[in-house]
Amino acid sequence: MSKRRRIYEGKAKILYEGPEPGTLVQHFKDDATAFNAKKHEVIDGKGVLNNRISEYLFVRLGEIGIYTHFIKRLNMREQLIRELEIIPIEVVVRNIAAGSIAKRLGLEEGTPLPRSIVEFYFKEDKLDDPMVSEEHITAFGWAQPPELDEMTAMALRINDYMSGLFMGVGIRLVDFKVEFGRLLENDMIRIVLADEISPDSCRLWDVETDDKLDKDRFRRDMGGLVDAYKEVARRLGILLEGDPSSDKSGPRLVSSNED
Ligand code: TMP
Repeated sequence: MSKRRRIYEGKAKILYEGPEPGTLVQHFKDDATAFNAKKHEVIDGKGVLNNRISEYLFVRLGEIGIYTHFIKRLNMREQLIRELEIIPIEVVVRNIAAGSIAKRLGLEEGTPLPRSIVEFYFKEDKLDDPMVSEEHITAFGWAQPPELDEMTAMALRINDYMSGLFMGVGIRLVDFKVEFGRLLENDMIRIVLADEISPDSCRLWDVETDDKLDKDRFRRDMGGLVDAYKEVARRLGILLEGDPSSDKSGPRLVSSNED
């Protein structure tokens, strides 16, 4: 088998050249990082879970008319995606105070926010992804004003949809981060949801117990990350191929691409 060309390696994913022009293969690693990779661990099984959860959410969001980079899942760790020009902005939507907003504004974690709040962070590891305003983004040309409006509207729609989806399975969507890219379509630039949406990039709390079902389990040394991610997958009704505990009767997928 010939070696695929690696286009980019991030903290939790690798992008390989895809089978056709304009496509890439997005590979989910087991690496967990926090605090700009100052904390790092390999957590067996995380990549497989995030691949499935992100696939599920991107497909559901596609069904409500959100354009995404997702084409199809290839195997347990990989999905085929459309190649985009990534906009170097992380868009965070918050419904409940937690994490950095709680710290920055002195809010108690768990306090509902007066309304959903959208924040922007500049994707630049050297600077630890600083928070920026619309002024910074448009003045420095990271995104044009109409692009930023579109990203904000899409992020809020994603928030509405996902808040309902998770509430239906007993999970509160506290906050999440999304990324967008540009796709050239007949001389028009379309803003498309990119990257991943998974418990790595969301805060998900059990409605009854406030149990954390997300990467804060790793950031805060709580343990039980894989079990928490499995619980999210189980509640969303996602069967994990290759995991005997998730489907005792069904066939086991054997993938030649799996490492
Ligand atoms: P924060 O409270 O640390 O700013 O995080 C807000 C949300 O964004 C939370 O759901 C975790 C997610 N997030 C990422 O996906 N990547 C990051 O690098 C950071 C800092 C947060």
